[in-house]
Amino acid sequence: MKVAVLGAAGGIGQPLSMILKNNLPAGSQLNLFDVAPFTPGVAKDLSHIPTDVAVDGFTGDDLPKALEGVDVVVIPAGVARKPGMTRDDLFNVNAGIIANLVRNCAKTCPKACICIITNPVNSTVPLAAEVLKAEGVYDKHRLFGVSVLDVLRSETFIAAELGISNQRIQVPVIGGHSGNTIIPLISQVIGSEKISETRIAELTTRIQNAGTEVVEAKVGAGSATLSMATAGARFALKVVRGLMGEPGVNEYCYIESDNKNSKFFAQAVVFGKNGWERALDIGTISAFEQKQIDEAMPALQGNIQKGVEFAQKWIAENK
Ligand code: LMR
Repeated sequence: MKVAVLGAAGGIGQPLSMILKNNLPAGSQLNLFDVAPFTPGVAKDLSHIPTDVAVDGFTGDDLPKALEGVDVVVIPAGVARKPGMTRDDLFNVNAGIIANLVRNCAKTCPKACICIITNPVNSTVPLAAEVLKAEGVYDKHRLFGVSVLDVLRSETFIAAELGISNQRIQVPVIGGHSGNTIIPLISQVIGSEKISETRIAELTTRIQNAGTEVVEAKVGAGSATLSMATAGARFALKVVRGLMGEPGVNEYCYIESDNKNSKFFAQAVVFGKNGWERALDIGTISAFEQKQIDEAMPALQGNIQKGVEFAQKWIAENK
């Protein structure tokens, strides 16, 4: 497998690249790209770890070289939130970065699976879809928004609530990756009948605000990097396992699907040799969770529209 990380020298990119270097299948190639000139140094550093994964670093004009023959691209590039900002406040800077990186993917590795971490994910994924369509290479089965950190956080918080190991819990999280569009389906967790309705509402709010919790705790130094790197790597490694033909690998992510709630929606998918193969039904949900979905959809539609409109303008201005 050949995997590229774009934004590899940043706060998420470095630990993400390290986890991939340590966990990709033997014989894989890991390409790191970042505008930071020390990116080849990050690759050199990682190359001293004794795993059977080759690693190379690229910067400047070498993005096409970094993307040559790549199967999976993971994109954490872009700016992070400061206290008081929403993910949507990052749009103006990060939208242009994503448009440019995704166009490069379209030209150099048009069949790659692209996993977008860059916020606001609710908008950057539909934006990327438009850029790929304009290049004639869009395949919705190969484009993902990485929303799995919401699952990791939910598992951590709810396992603590139930007093069980977080190795023994699974929490579905659907919708999107921002504010009230993050919808944990706590009613589907085994043992959740022990949690009161009031606590379920409180836990839901905590999960929705967990990114902000980190942003505030970092007092201006950025947002989640280590937990996001863990989530991004978990996700990319599952995509790789699917591409390699392992059956039954699944994960939550933000994709374009036939979901009845929204054109782009976070839900569980099963991976295969061509990206995500099948989206799984969200199953039975509580009245509280249905209300959460209903209340979140207008915001999600606005986020999607914003990404699409930016892309259309960007494509027209950057022929
Ligand atoms: C997160 O969920 O931690 C990331 O999306 C970063 C952020 O700005 O919250």
